[in-house]
This record gives sequence, C-alpha cells and structure tokens, in this order.
Amino acid sequence: MSTVVVTGTQWGDEGKGKIVDYLAQQAETVVRFQGGSNAGHTVVVDGEAYKLRLMPSGILFKGTHCVVGNGVAFSPKVMLEEMDALAARGIDLSGIRISNRAHVVLPYHCLMDGIGDEARGKNKIGTTKNGIGPCYIDRDNRIGIRVCDLIDREEFAKRLKENLEIKNRELKLLYDHEPLNYEEILEEYNGYADRLRPYVCDTIALLNDEVKEGRKILFEGAQATMLDIDYGTYPYVTASHPISGGVGVGCGVAPRAIDKVVGIVKAYCTRVGEGPFPTEQLNEIGDRIREEGHEYGVVTGRPRRTGWLDACVVRYAGQLSGIDYMAVTRLDILDSFDEIKMCVAYKYKGEILNEIPASLKVLAEVEPVYETFPGWKTDISKIRKYEDLPENARKYLERMAEVTGIGLGIVSVGPNRDETIVLA
Ligand code: GTP
Repeated sequence: MSTVVVTGTQWGDEGKGKIVDYLAQQAETVVRFQGGSNAGHTVVVDGEAYKLRLMPSGILFKGTHCVVGNGVAFSPKVMLEEMDALAARGIDLSGIRISNRAHVVLPYHCLMDGIGDEARGKNKIGTTKNGIGPCYIDRDNRIGIRVCDLIDREEFAKRLKENLEIKNRELKLLYDHEPLNYEEILEEYNGYADRLRPYVCDTIALLNDEVKEGRKILFEGAQATMLDIDYGTYPYVTASHPISGGVGVGCGVAPRAIDKVVGIVKAYCTRVGEGPFPTEQLNEIGDRIREEGHEYGVVTGRPRRTGWLDACVVRYAGQLSGIDYMAVTRLDILDSFDEIKMCVAYKYKGEILNEIPASLKVLAEVEPVYETFPGWKTDISKIRKYEDLPENARKYLERMAEVTGIGLGIVSVGPNRDETIVLA
C-alpha cells in the first residue's frame, strides 16, 4: 500500500468505517477529503464501538496522521466533541491536522439546513441538518469563512459580522426567523479557535510532501457514489464529491498521486432519505434485511430503506472511480436467507438500459432484472479464508464481480477487525 482511496459504491452506510479501519492498520496518514459531520462511521476494536463523524478513522492508531482536508465542511463544535470523547477513552490526539482552507460550519448553516429543507415540503432532500449543504453554498457563493479566518480573531470578528448581517436578513425574509446573536456566536467560536489552533496547518503542503516521501496514505471517502452531487441521484444527493475524483479537489493532491481505489460494496443495499432506489423492498424482505442488519442511521437513528444488491449501481461506481477492487461488507447479514437476489440490469419500457439513467423519473420507473441465488444458511462469521466460504456465498460474490467488472479484494463477515477475508 502507498496511496489508497476508499469510496462507497452505493448510497452510503456500506460499512466503510470498518474497511477504512482495517486498511488504516497499514496507513501512516488517513485523510478526509469531503463531506463533514453528516458522515457516521462505526469502527469496532476489541469489541468497543467508536462512532466517528468528522474525525478520520486513523485516530484509533497511535502515531497516524489524521488529516481533515480543505474539501471538508468543518464543524469545530463536532470536531471538539469527538476529540473530547476520544481523549476520555485514552485515545492520543496528537496526529490531528486540520486544513487552514477548510470551510467552517456556523450555527446559521445548521439552522438553514433544517428549515430550508422542511420548506421544500414534499421535495425535501432529507438532509442530516448538520449544515453541510449551506456551508458549501457559502463557499460557492464566495462568502464562506475558512479555518484560517477562524483562527485569526480580528478577521473572524469582521467576517462573522458581515455574514451574520446577510444571514439574519435571509432568515427574516425567507423564514420569518428571529436573528441570531453575533456576540454569542463570536464567543463560542473564539473558544473553539483557541482549542483548535495547534492542530491547524497547510495540509496541501503536508500531503504533497508525504506523497513525495512515499508515505502510506489512505483517503477516506464519506457518503458514496450515488450521493455524489454530480453523479448521484440528483437532487437527492449530498453537497460534495465522494467519488475518487473528489480526492484531488478535496485535499490538493494530483490524480497521479493515487495508486489504488477500493470500492466498498454492501452485500445488499440501503438508502437514507428520499430519492429513487430501484431494488428497494417495501415488504417483508426489506423489513428482514433492516432487522438482521440493524439498518438504522448512526447519527439520526432513522430506519434505512432496504433492498437487494444493485450491481448496475456498483458497475457505475467502478467506472466513475476507477475501482481496482471491491471490499464486500456485511455478507454475514444474509446468512439466514433462503434465497438472495441481485439486480444485474435495468429494463425500461421493455428495453435493457446500459447506463444509469440521468432522469430520476426514468430511474424511478426502471424494472430491475434479478438473478436469484440460493442462500448458504450457515454462520460465516468465523471464516477467514475465501475458499472456506460456502459454495453458494462464493457463487454470489463471483457473479457480483462478473456483472460489475470489478475484482474481489476483501470480504467482510462481521464488524470486528479480524472478521475479514482478504483475497490474495
Ligand atoms: P459509512 O461511512 O456511512 O459507510 O458508515 P459506516 O461504514 O460506519 O456504516 P454504518 O453506519 O452502516 O455502520 C456499519 C455497521 O456495520 C457498523 O456497526 C460496523 O461495525 C458494522 N459492520 C461493518 N462491516 C460488517 C460486516 O461485515 N458484518 C457485520 N455484521 N457488520 C459489519
């Protein structure tokens, strides 16, 4: 391993946290390059669960650099909460590096995320209300406040005053909301800045030096391909680029600095929030997948929508991100099923579609073409070698590789680090 990108191939919650943690054992630096505290990784080490939202997963390894890149919508509040919680459990925080160019999430972003989405009525996106979208909007509107501004007291006071005047006018006009208090936000954020200042640096220079030195770097994507702002099921998407191309813009390293791309594929499919989901099972099967897989959001607790694996979506993710191999997660969740289905193509108005349709109207109407596989009806969580997996499980995985055109690299059979099968 030298530089590796981990990207989700579906709608998120694929179990990226576990695979990133597994790969992070060999990494010297772990980098977040997009999204923000709207992500929710769960990493289980020695039976202890760590829930990480903004913090790069490498934090659980002493001495690993954990970089928050400039492409991250950075909430100082969430970062400090996570740092405090980790420190209380004895985790060393000295490896944290925060980009001075990352955009800061402010209270008005979170507020507007919530009321703005509700105001869309039946067209709401179902955001996590962490202010990520509004923070990126300010960046694109060129009024964002960056970490380098936050840690400069004078500059922050000035920029906050200007921005809050605009935001309070918008809050009043658009939502008839009372104004937010400048002094309160200033004091709160000055406190955050004082605590975070030692961790802030130019992460572009740092990462480029590390690439040159041949340091082992893991770029950890949050959310996933089908939530990418341009390539996902727009508009039901996140506000950033989780595909591997997001690494370049999200942390300032060139595309040629990336050696390998790993695509995380959950053995079935889930999605949170609104938007089309061709293989969704709004029936007993879907309920069973949800219960067997405990498919409820880490941050929000919301029940996830559930369905069969959609190999068309994984194939698309493979094209977009140049995926070298798949890490298939949560195969064990299917242990008790009599039969398992995989969508291998879409049919629309009687014709086979070769691409993922851009139009959501079309995507909502496609008919998944399923192949049915007999279940393996065995507990696979103790298996550590690919050839020891039941034949029916191997058939399912091998067909997945065939339809998606992506090789198998890792099969995860449980939440723990060691419940992992690595293919040669
Ligand atoms: P995302 O970054 O959104 O993908 O978050 P995540 O990777 O943490 O996904 P999620 O929030 O859905 O958490 C996945 C859960 O599944 C965590 O509790 C993991 O410990 C667990 N998990 C990961 N891989 C496996 C696996 O192969 N089998 C089982 N049973 N659990 C797994």
